[in-house]
Amino acid sequence: MRILVTGGAGFIGSHTVDKLIEKKAEVLVIDDLSTGKAENVNPAAHFVKMDITSGHLSQVFQKFKPEYVIHLAAQVSVPKSLEDPVKDCMTNVAGCVNILENCRLLGVRKVVYSSSAAVYGDFGDTKVSESAPVRPLSFYGVSKLSPEYYLQVFYHLYGLKYTVLRYANVYGPRQDAFGEGGVVSIFAARVADKQSPRIFGDGEQARDFVYVEDVAAANIRALDRGDQMILNVGTGVSTSVNRLFSLISEIAGIALKPEYCRAREGDIRHSCMDITNTVAALDWKPDFSLREGLVRTLEYYRS
Ligand SMILES: NC(=O)c1ccc[n+]([C@@H]2O[C@H](COP(=O)([O-])OP(=O)(O)OC[C@H]3O[C@@H](n4cnc5c(N)ncnc54)[C@H](O)[C@@H]3O)[C@@H](O)[C@H]2O)c1
Repeated sequence: MRILVTGGAGFIGSHTVDKLIEKKAEVLVIDDLSTGKAENVNPAAHFVKMDITSGHLSQVFQKFKPEYVIHLAAQVSVPKSLEDPVKDCMTNVAGCVNILENCRLLGVRKVVYSSSAAVYGDFGDTKVSESAPVRPLSFYGVSKLSPEYYLQVFYHLYGLKYTVLRYANVYGPRQDAFGEGGVVSIFAARVADKQSPRIFGDGEQARDFVYVEDVAAANIRALDRGDQMILNVGTGVSTSVNRLFSLISEIAGIALKPEYCRAREGDIRHSCMDITNTVAALDWKPDFSLREGLVRTLEYYRS
């Protein structure tokens, strides 16, 4: 099986590539290394350093002839999307359309697209299911949502199959401390360094934290399941930032007091995903408890 993974030098992409290589797939990574790292790319994968908006993308497609594409390359920072919405749109929308157009021209069998909980905006205390209204609160949320519609139209016009996976807050080894779900990596890196982290607001804001290997497994499951579906990838469990910090401190065996500062404007109070449809459609469930995932993440930052 020949699989192209865009963003395969990044956090989630590199774990996805590792799992595909374990399964003996032939993998090509396209990544411009803007936030990804060459050393993250599995040595058994082919690698082309290229921007997904490039006009030369078609040559890479023609040479490798991917049967499947897992599209993860993106501008991933909410603050950067607010500072430079044009760049955010170019990468996340135009870049994705460039990928899809090449998929169409080459007759790719299926595209798995990494979307985000950011498309929902603030959905209150309830678990959000895929049928909830989408109300992005940032340009990043809009630029992750827009390709979902492109995928639907590419399917209706040309039969290009797809699955959209909307990820919750992903965490684990290799995550950049400034990423979308960066709170775990920031805490783990600080605690590994025996430094107190800062908590914005009262720390009772809660998130659905999902371990990166579970997300990588969902990406691979979606290659032959969940066609034309939009599916949440999370755990269905929400954890407050205070609880997260005390768990990390307890695992590290260090008693640190966090420094509380003013809540950040626009921070979502509560977010948790309903994963019922995903469990059924992908025959998948998260295998890692938060504690197990944190143990592995802390080990990574300590080393
Ligand atoms: N980390 C999370 O919690 C989270 C949550 C929801 C959705 N996502 C989505 O998952 C995907 C992967 O995110 P991640 O957390 O691994 O971030 P990441 O920054 O580690 O990975 C993104 C990769 O894309 C590459 N890239 C960026 N712009 C590019 C371009 N123009 N051309 C080619 N490559 C480019 C980067 O170099 C990087 O390797 C993204 O699409 C992101 O929106 C992540």
